[in-house]
Amino acid sequence: MDKIVIRGGRPLQGEIAVSGAKNAALPLMAAALLTEQTVRLGNLPHLVDIATLANLLTRLGAELHLNGQCAPDGHDGRVLEICARRIASHVAPYDLVRKMRASVLVLGPLLAREGRAEVSLPGGCAIGTRPIDLHLEGFKRLGAEIELDGGYVKATAPNGLKGGEIVFPKVSVGATENLMMAASLAEGETLLVNAAREPEIVDLANLLCAMGADIEGAGSEQICIRGVSALHGAEHTVIPDRIEAGTYAMAAAATDGDLHLLGARADHLAALSELLTKAGVTLEETNRGLRVRRANGRLVGTDAMTEAFPGFPTDLQAQYMALMTTAEGAAMVTETIFENRFMHVPELCRMGAEIVVHGASALIRGKPTLKGAPVMATDLRASSCLVLAGLVAEGETELNRVYHLDRGYERLEAKLAACGADIRRVREA
Ligand code: UD1
Repeated sequence: MDKIVIRGGRPLQGEIAVSGAKNAALPLMAAALLTEQTVRLGNLPHLVDIATLANLLTRLGAELHLNGQCAPDGHDGRVLEICARRIASHVAPYDLVRKMRASVLVLGPLLAREGRAEVSLPGGCAIGTRPIDLHLEGFKRLGAEIELDGGYVKATAPNGLKGGEIVFPKVSVGATENLMMAASLAEGETLLVNAAREPEIVDLANLLCAMGADIEGAGSEQICIRGVSALHGAEHTVIPDRIEAGTYAMAAAATDGDLHLLGARADHLAALSELLTKAGVTLEETNRGLRVRRANGRLVGTDAMTEAFPGFPTDLQAQYMALMTTAEGAAMVTETIFENRFMHVPELCRMGAEIVVHGASALIRGKPTLKGAPVMATDLRASSCLVLAGLVAEGETELNRVYHLDRGYERLEAKLAACGADIRRVREA
């Protein structure tokens, strides 16, 4: 298994091109199952999660072609063509779904187009139980029958799906996406109430509309979808990854550096910008992205609470905590989206951080510095949190289980090394 070795203490300086968003690309790829024609996605990030979904789509009968292509700003977003002319299988098997929860996003498209789908239940994962009940209740509301058998969800709609009103009891990104895709091919109108408002939802709605869907309100709490009888092929460019951009913004702040994040969108990062500004970081919108550096001197401990968009994202919570470990004073970080998402805390403490967890909140008392240590990544965002900690720590940090990072960060060590970080990957057989 690969390791990443970092010698901390170097301020990051330079430019980083932000890749296409993983969490936008995955539902966009699943949406290609809704049409017999080709869907062409540009600015696709090169990540293990993308390969996992590509593998699943292939098993379902889609044909995929991947081309490297240089984007105008010089970074190499890839172009993926997906053509699901024929659906050969309706089953998303356990061996793929267990690798990546987002595989459940094929349920809506398969059910809407084919009237049936079988998807393995994703089961627990490192950051909590993460059920899919909201997806399933939504499909039932559109007339599907749902059965659980042998660890699989078997969904059928022999007479097609029928539009209806779905009021989500809790905001869910995945359920909003799955239902929006399914409702695009349902008969009549569907209203999604208490829908997620993330930029990835808007990106998916934009692709679906380019494919001929009739959707209004994406990005607000209510989305209205008027079903159409068929969708067609389309071309679309994946939005920049706000979580990757936010991670590097915090890396600049943590190392007292100065980074220009090319392609980063300030409107997708407003909640983080607000927090970082309070903590003493300057974020400046430029015509190429976002420039991030400390305003003056040490960071100031600043409380944060995760919330659904437009609130502060749970996917940046671990990295923010790493940033706060060397801020002046204390910071309280509260996680409201996922249970058990503080697995990075013991690892940060091994590097000298002072953090106490009380339920869903963690109190971080800032120290002047951290000390490098061997650490273990437990999930994707915990991994980038430990990279940030390694970048500020004195001495060497060895990060194990790097495969988590490869699920969601494209060429992380190359991007950071190009900005002055002492970071390298050690390949092990
Ligand atoms: C997506 C993101 C993930 C991010 C999360 C929250 C992708 C591929 N992943 O995950 O990176 O951390 O949004 O911003 O886009 N829930 C239920 N029942 C359900 C569905 C969700 O109780 O049927 C709960 C979850 O356990 C969690 C909360 O709702 O507590 C939000 O989850 P959700 O927004 O669905 O996350 P994902 O779409 O899985």
